Amino acid sequence: MVRFISNPSSGKMGYAIAEAARQRGAEVILVSGPTNLTLPAGVKPHSVRTACEMHEAVMREFDTADVVIKAAAVSDYRPKQFIPYKVKKTDDVRMVELVRNPDILAELGQRKGKRVLVGFAAETEELLANAQKKVQAKHLDMIVANDVGQLGIGFQSDENKVLILHDNGRLEDLPLMSKQQLAHEILDRVVERLRGID
Ligand code: PMT
Repeated sequence: MVRFISNPSSGKMGYAIAEAARQRGAEVILVSGPTNLTLPAGVKPHSVRTACEMHEAVMREFDTADVVIKAAAVSDYRPKQFIPYKVKKTDDVRMVELVRNPDILAELGQRKGKRVLVGFAAETEELLANAQKKVQAKHLDMIVANDVGQLGIGFQSDENKVLILHDNGRLEDLPLMSKQQLAHEILDRVVERLRGID
């Protein structure tokens, strides 16, 4: 691929969750786009490069999963046309037509069954209102909402500051913490759900 549409996600949040889950004894499959991070020990990797590949990989693993935590920043759109060579520049204005990517998490929500489903919401405005819409629309147990417009949290940072919104309306405003600590906070709540005590 010569040029593509992407975003600044480093993978730190997702990798921290995978590592924390493995430390707790879970069997972990990590579906990940390209990153510079080291795969946590004992985690089964599933590398993908595009949203469509991620869709296919997640759907393939979903049947055997008890818990899905979706921290990936999946592009909502992709160019309609894939050009397998470098497009040379001209003096013309060029337009790129975009088409929708599958909403992987929304599709998982439709097939949720007894699984615990956790989403993330990356917002730059109306953090809570937008997270509320997503938790309902995607049939999630909870959503972890972060303001990706703020420096030092969200994309690429080592720390994050989030709201956790549960499907029953419970709202938690967590303090700033490392992504490793946050991973464990999320997993504590997942365990509550699995035990049916939330
Ligand atoms: O990787 P880092 O640098 O550590 O940054 C962490 C993070 C900012 C990427 C992470 O904390 C985060 O916010 N992840 C979710 C990013 C995102 O795509 O949010 P969204 O609000 O656009 O999507 C809502 C949910 O639907 C997410 O769980 C997302 O994985 C999922 N989704 C979105 C689009 C799509 N086509 N398919 C999806 O499954």
